[in-house]
Amino acid sequence: MCGIVGYVGPRDCTDVLISALTKLEYRGYDSAGIAVFENGKIEVAKSKGRLTDLVKKMEKEGKPNGHAGIGHTRWATHGEPSDINSHPHSGRRVTIVHNGIIENYKELKQFLIDNERTEFLSDTDTEVVAQLLDFYYEGNPIRCIRRVLHELRGSFALGIVFADRPETVYAVRCESPLIVGQGKGEAFIASDVPAILKYTKDYYLLEYGEIAVLKNGSVTFCDFHGRMVEKVLKTADWDEDSAEKGGYPHYMIKEIHEQPTAVKTTITPRIENGMPNLSECGITPETLRDINNIFIVACGTAMHAGMVGKYVIEKLARTSVTVDIASEFRYRDPLIGENDLVIIISQSGETADSKAVLNLVRETKAKSLAVVNVKGSSIARDADMVIYTHAGPEIAVASTKAYMVQLAVMYLLAFEIAYAKGKIDEKECRELIAGLQNIPEVIDKTIDAVVDECQYISTKLITADSLLYIGRGLDYALSMEGSLKLKEISYIHSESYAAGELKHGTISLVEDGMPVIAVATQNTLLEKTVSNIKEVKARGAMTIVICDEYTEIDEDAADYLIRVPKISEVLMPMVATVPMQLLAYYTAVNKGNDVDKPRNLAKSVTVE
Ligand code: G6P
Repeated sequence: MCGIVGYVGPRDCTDVLISALTKLEYRGYDSAGIAVFENGKIEVAKSKGRLTDLVKKMEKEGKPNGHAGIGHTRWATHGEPSDINSHPHSGRRVTIVHNGIIENYKELKQFLIDNERTEFLSDTDTEVVAQLLDFYYEGNPIRCIRRVLHELRGSFALGIVFADRPETVYAVRCESPLIVGQGKGEAFIASDVPAILKYTKDYYLLEYGEIAVLKNGSVTFCDFHGRMVEKVLKTADWDEDSAEKGGYPHYMIKEIHEQPTAVKTTITPRIENGMPNLSECGITPETLRDINNIFIVACGTAMHAGMVGKYVIEKLARTSVTVDIASEFRYRDPLIGENDLVIIISQSGETADSKAVLNLVRETKAKSLAVVNVKGSSIARDADMVIYTHAGPEIAVASTKAYMVQLAVMYLLAFEIAYAKGKIDEKECRELIAGLQNIPEVIDKTIDAVVDECQYISTKLITADSLLYIGRGLDYALSMEGSLKLKEISYIHSESYAAGELKHGTISLVEDGMPVIAVATQNTLLEKTVSNIKEVKARGAMTIVICDEYTEIDEDAADYLIRVPKISEVLMPMVATVPMQLLAYYTAVNKGNDVDKPRNLAKSVTVE
């Protein structure tokens, strides 16, 4: 939610801020703005709409010209997207950009009004913080920031400039992520590493309550109490190319094509002599042997990866798995036992609700395991154990490669738990691992095999108002993600349904021409799924069936068939995902939608 950046150095600050914000637009894109010191004075430019709207506005009205400043791309929380509500926001002597949410902003606003500070222009919580900083400012920025930190409740990261401290940028982090980049004679702040990769790979991770001061191209840090802090410089292992489109028209399609490499990079270090080995993640067979129940908790696509994990772990390891939406789990007073394991899956590692689950687990004797893509992110750092997925930066809002590697990790875990608990023998485990190692190649083949068909079928979907995804077992778990992918970028209403449950109400929606996409890769359930497909077909549905290359489907059941390579049944989700991603992608492209930045969404949801 929202991206913030800042720069101090010899380059044209506006150019740097815009370039960095371009890389953060996935975090929010309903308005953008910058504040730059020009001849010692803070100049602000901001605009509703995409970053390109801000750039156009500056081309017309002139751009701030200087060497230090802050910038913001917004996902609206308080106040509609508008020029006025766009960041930066200012008090008389302070201008700020903010990522996160201030929960007590109303009380603080009242406090300011009671103290004759009434000049509020916007509806945002951020402006209240700017005014509060201004209220307490007596010429010592650090003391002022620390004073205000005591007053704020919520999650936030701030970039701050003080009018009487030209060429200096202050930054503070409480919950919402913030990194500080260090180049040669220049320094940056950003909500995420890809924003600064064009300039430097070296960065510091700001911790909770830490304040950074960027001045004369270098950075100093202090903590919540004002004590100086020495921090360790990290080096990003993502390069700029991996955060670029690399010749593809959209990040989403590039990321679909990156899946084979992502899976390979994720599984290879966790396989030793043909057997799973998660010891580098702090997980040993002994840890897994005594696990009683497993909870998988996540949001959105990550939760859907957990659904597949549930089916696979229960099937192979005969261990009970409950999958929960993090925003529900954290408030439902779950019964977590001493020998239970709570797995939190998160691409960003910063999702507010998923993060909150870790606090809950800490109050119990259970262990937490994070499956996270972004290194050093809050969830990764707070969990007892971490398995990093190595998808590289995922820029498209609609997740594809991150989901695929989350699946890969679910399989590795399932195999390891099943073997540790003696539910599968070594031979079976080796066969499963060999099947997983083969997946990168099969994904490549699948893309080639289905891309044309998906492109064609998508032309049949663009006029639909609503559609259904159906499946049984693993196919049902998978269809949840297929349905989400399609609706989030094509804006076509879509539901996924357990095929057997359809006739308990939802089938009444089926009418002439309604697309129903059936996933039928589980041979053991095939006959039953086919019966359900025929039921909707008989009621006028246009049926699209995703099945393996050998499955015989009655001619009268499917209007369109998408055939994927056949592999072992338990691993089929990793293959059948591909046509679902491509159907969603081409439907959105054919509708002329902004594929990588679908409306109202943000990639990293750091507010509840
Ligand atoms: C947002 C994103 C989704 C993602 C979900 C959870 O809604 O748009 O793609 O699945 O957050 O994010 P996480 O980073 O925790 O996986």
